[in-house]
Amino acid sequence: MEPGAGPGPGFHVRTYGCQMNVHDSEKIANLLVHAGWTQEPDDEQSDLLIVNTCSIREKAEHRLYSDLGGLRAWRARRAGRLVGVGGCVAQQVGDGLLARFPQVDFVFGTHTLRLLPALVAAAAEGRRRAETAESSDLERFELPARHPSLERATPGRAYLTVMEGCDMFCSFCIVPITRGREISRPAPSVVREAEALAAGGVVEITLLGQTVNAYGRQERRRGAEGAPSFASLLRRLAAIPGLRRIRYTSPHPIFFDDDLIAVHGELEALCPHVHLPLQSGSDAVLAAMRRRYRADDLRRLVARLRAARPDLALTTDLIVGFPGESEADFAETLALVGELGFADSYAFKYSPRVGTAAAGRGGSVPERVAQERLEALQALQRGLTLAYHRSRVGGSTEVLVEGPSSRSRREGRVGQLSGRDPWHRVVNLPAESFAAARPGDLVPVRIAEATPHSLIAEAL
Ligand code: SAH
Ligand code: SF4
Ligand code: F3S
Repeated sequence: MEPGAGPGPGFHVRTYGCQMNVHDSEKIANLLVHAGWTQEPDDEQSDLLIVNTCSIREKAEHRLYSDLGGLRAWRARRAGRLVGVGGCVAQQVGDGLLARFPQVDFVFGTHTLRLLPALVAAAAEGRRRAETAESSDLERFELPARHPSLERATPGRAYLTVMEGCDMFCSFCIVPITRGREISRPAPSVVREAEALAAGGVVEITLLGQTVNAYGRQERRRGAEGAPSFASLLRRLAAIPGLRRIRYTSPHPIFFDDDLIAVHGELEALCPHVHLPLQSGSDAVLAAMRRRYRADDLRRLVARLRAARPDLALTTDLIVGFPGESEADFAETLALVGELGFADSYAFKYSPRVGTAAAGRGGSVPERVAQERLEALQALQRGLTLAYHRSRVGGSTEVLVEGPSSRSRREGRVGQLSGRDPWHRVVNLPAESFAAARPGDLVPVRIAEATPHSLIAEAL
């Protein structure tokens, strides 16, 4: 039998968390298909279920624990079924998961994806293992090429890992613990994968790293040769024929140097959108968060980015209710968000994470107050997003079609498609005007209408 072409046993991966985890799940699926398994759209037909976990906030971690209840019954319904747990909770808890949950057959961490086929094989023979050691070898970037039978969930688009880990240790954040030390993938390996993606029809790549624009800094600090800056990596990738759009996430504000700002005005393929996590607008809170910038640094950075690329769309992440955050601190956040005019933002209530510097600090903000602040920020953002969308009406652009719009999916209709423009806004394509468009196509459009959540296109 051709490996992965079926009818090998089926697996399904459940994914929580950020783009890194979504991409790790693609790598997991690829490894399993290479090992002879077949990807299934849901649990019921599967013999192997993998939960790829997130632990950024308490709620995310709890998803695993609530899933595990149901998975005990799922596993018992058919002999030979296996459950594996990977990702950020797995990295943190390790073999504790095996001890606490008899329904878990194996555990793998964020550095040990490559061991997955061996872990599955051992589990099938009744040997329960947890492999969550941290490693600094570069082999983790060398995974098998995409199996030809594996369908791309996102036609035309792909994620590309350029660095992993985080050495920033912001006081609220678990990521440096779950993803380990910063390590950058050698540039030739990044370029090779980008070329292969382009040759396979991918037109948009998103470069991934927890602090993606710190690319290569630890390697350069150690004196490694051939470790280019993030800006030079972008220049190399922009020269690959066929790659029409390059994005990256998430950058840290302190790693924008002059050169990286300049490439935003230089490279046509580099999309005019930067996700710039701000977290707070108060210098006191930023210091307590150990973010290493002040509100004014952000103002200056945004001004320089906009000078390089005047039409840049900015999005951000914000935390409300960080220990010690006063009404006045929060007012500074509201003011800065309004001033910088984010096209979108993701606001979260602070969630204490065991093992981080801020956990257990005094000055905790009552839940009710945090909720009010969250809602105030979200209300402000709705206005900013709508204003940004309105500013786009009448302009023409290109949409990379992703699939049925969320409205079509909700209403069970076929027809209306949706995709993203270079500014990363969702653009809906009414079926009557775009009957020929297919997922993965780049379609020229004019923006006809602005709604709070998306733009509506008309044919050019
Ligand atoms: N590397 C990215 C952030 C990754 S985590 C960066 O530096 O910006 C994604 C977002 O989750 C963060 O930007 C932050 O807003 C939020 N977050 C992280 N830890 C959190 C916590 N303990 N409570 C609430 N939100 C948190
Ligand atoms: Fe977390 Fe800060 Fe690292 Fe981002 S930079 S992943 S917020 S520790
Ligand atoms: Fe969650 Fe880990 Fe990403 S904690 S946000 S899956 S890095």
